[in-house]
Amino acid sequence: MDIQFVAAGAAVPAKSAVARIVFEGETQSGAIGQAVAASRFTGGKGQTLDILAPQGVDAARLVLVGAGKKDAFDAAAAENAAAAGYNAVKASGLETLRVEGAGAFAANAAFGVRLASYRFDKYRTREPAEKKPSIARTEVVAESPDATLAGFADFAALADAISFTRDLVSEPPNVLFPAEFAARVKELEDIGLEVEVLGEAEMAKLGMGSLLAVGQGSIRESRLVVMKWTGAADRSAQPVAFVGKGVCFDTGGISIKPAENMEDMKWDMGGAGAVAGVMHALAGRKARVNAVGILGLVENMPDGNSYRPGDVLTSMSGQTIEVVNTDAEGRLVLADALWYCQDRFRPKVMVDLATLTGAIIIALGNDYAGCYSNNEELAANLLAAGKAEDEGLWRMPLPEAYNRQIDSMIADMKNTGGRPGGSITAALFLQRYVNNVPWAHLDIASTAWKKPSSVPTIPDGAVGFGVRLLNRMVRDKYEG
Ligand code: BES
Ligand code: MN
Ligand code: ZN
Repeated sequence: MDIQFVAAGAAVPAKSAVARIVFEGETQSGAIGQAVAASRFTGGKGQTLDILAPQGVDAARLVLVGAGKKDAFDAAAAENAAAAGYNAVKASGLETLRVEGAGAFAANAAFGVRLASYRFDKYRTREPAEKKPSIARTEVVAESPDATLAGFADFAALADAISFTRDLVSEPPNVLFPAEFAARVKELEDIGLEVEVLGEAEMAKLGMGSLLAVGQGSIRESRLVVMKWTGAADRSAQPVAFVGKGVCFDTGGISIKPAENMEDMKWDMGGAGAVAGVMHALAGRKARVNAVGILGLVENMPDGNSYRPGDVLTSMSGQTIEVVNTDAEGRLVLADALWYCQDRFRPKVMVDLATLTGAIIIALGNDYAGCYSNNEELAANLLAAGKAEDEGLWRMPLPEAYNRQIDSMIADMKNTGGRPGGSITAALFLQRYVNNVPWAHLDIASTAWKKPSSVPTIPDGAVGFGVRLLNRMVRDKYEG
């Protein structure tokens, strides 16, 4: 999507649609007023009214987009209204979208269109042209177009990063296996990140018996990816660290999952995808921070060489784990990735993201991810960033007493605590691998994927959840 900012009154190109943001209670005059009167359009948030070329509008069609109350109009409202306008005309056959009425939030409006226009269509080979989106260019009316364009650079960097994450999450599992995921991340060296890729032999040397067990049944080798962004004035300042669960496909392993919806488990790498995306965003906007991203990449398959229920694993931390369910594999991957992260980088904060449990979906539904933390300040920073970016987080408890559920008869712990509080006992398991570093765990099984989506900036499918939130938290709290 080509994005431009133009002055009000600039000539509208041929084959354009105009999306005009309007507010509740605003009256329209002339033909537009007549069209509104003949409809149920009130200017409420999310409403659109498509009008064909009224006189005096220099475009093939006009879409009114409701943005709610004028005095509550903010960045998020502008973003969503512009996205809704784009969605209303994206397949109209018209080529340019002109967005009017965003005022001081023109850059946010453009950002909304960028996010809404994301599409993963590389495997559609027979789609008729008339079904494809036709809008290739968006012009947003801004008070000062040049300054707005300059200010849009950080938004563009963030949109690129979110698209990168959405692509990773959308790719099918036969294409995006651990080595391929690592190779795509390695390409981010072009935007200034340092990327190291560890193979199985290196991980074995480090003692990562927990992570390696999960990938043991797959013909695809596991990888651990270390991404570094050094943007702080003090190059040796302690980094913020992000750790992602990257299960490129989760069959459940020997504790195999039922067939229904198993294809969804291609997105069991959504945590690692988000970590890669936030590192992309930080590099893209040259954030003044030191940051580390660690991706634990495996495929969980049933095989003669798979790990078994009953196996006892020794993690890099030295703690032993009795496997009671090979489908509780994400925590095994994170156990070694988290330990490695704190051991090597001594981060000031460490946040992991993981599509960890079905239980968090039962607890919170699809609009909130679970947030667990051993540190009040970090938790508050995450919740505030989530609120600001409309990526819902809900704080969940880490009750000491529930640790009894993961006691093992023969090892230091077992890898599941049964169904009660399933997301909580998973988080308590992870906590044993963070060595008291200020840490938070985001269980994003509930939010990584929307099918269908009801949010105008999120097309059906991969959300890229976490990228906006963490980018915002770094910007607001950890940049110097
Ligand atoms: N990847 C799944 C969690 C998941 C389930 C994510 C549904 C998205 C949608 C995870 O590896 C898993 O299988 N968890 C089990 C844990 C159980 C065996 C203790 C679960 O949630 O059922
Ligand atoms: Mn699983
Ligand atoms: Zn999983």
